[in-house]
Amino acid sequence: MKRPVVGILMGSDSDWPTFEQAAKVLQDFGVAHEVRVLSAHRSPAQVRRYVQQAPRRGIKVVIAGAGGAAHLAGVVAAHTTLPVIGVPIETKSLKGLDSLLSTVQMPKGVPVATVAIGNAANAALLAVQMLAIRDGTLQQRLVSYKRRLTAQTLKADRSLRTTLLG
Ligand code: RP5
Repeated sequence: MKRPVVGILMGSDSDWPTFEQAAKVLQDFGVAHEVRVLSAHRSPAQVRRYVQQAPRRGIKVVIAGAGGAAHLAGVVAAHTTLPVIGVPIETKSLKGLDSLLSTVQMPKGVPVATVAIGNAANAALLAVQMLAIRDGTLQQRLVSYKRRLTAQTLKADRSLRTTLLG
């Protein structure tokens, strides 16, 4: 097992269906990662300990997210100089707008790079892009990934036009 370089932190195990997307992207890119349930409100001491130990354990980027009063990513950012990517979890009551605002509206000096509501895949891609700054292999994988995205879009365009034109 390679040492994890990305830490995925979620406020509850009920957030896993969202964070599973991030784990899959990191796996596809061959980036070693770990997943933890750590809550800013329910296990604050453990959050702090995790974040303080993360750099010496080899963690380079933290992806963190919660739903509702989503303070996890912000609290993580308060305790570290590692880059923190926030994922607002969609909620039943407010559709994730509560999570979005409480994740993104950080005070000056303590940034959290916040992705769209529920878009944990983008959080993982952003983490890969950060790591790729110093990793040529990852950079090449990102280039191939972007090419595949373009190819899929061109294929969809061709197929739609064929259908419409008959
Ligand atoms: C947040 O409250 C969690 O991140 C989760 O999105 C939400 C609900 O948590 P559970 O009550 O399902 O554990 O802290």
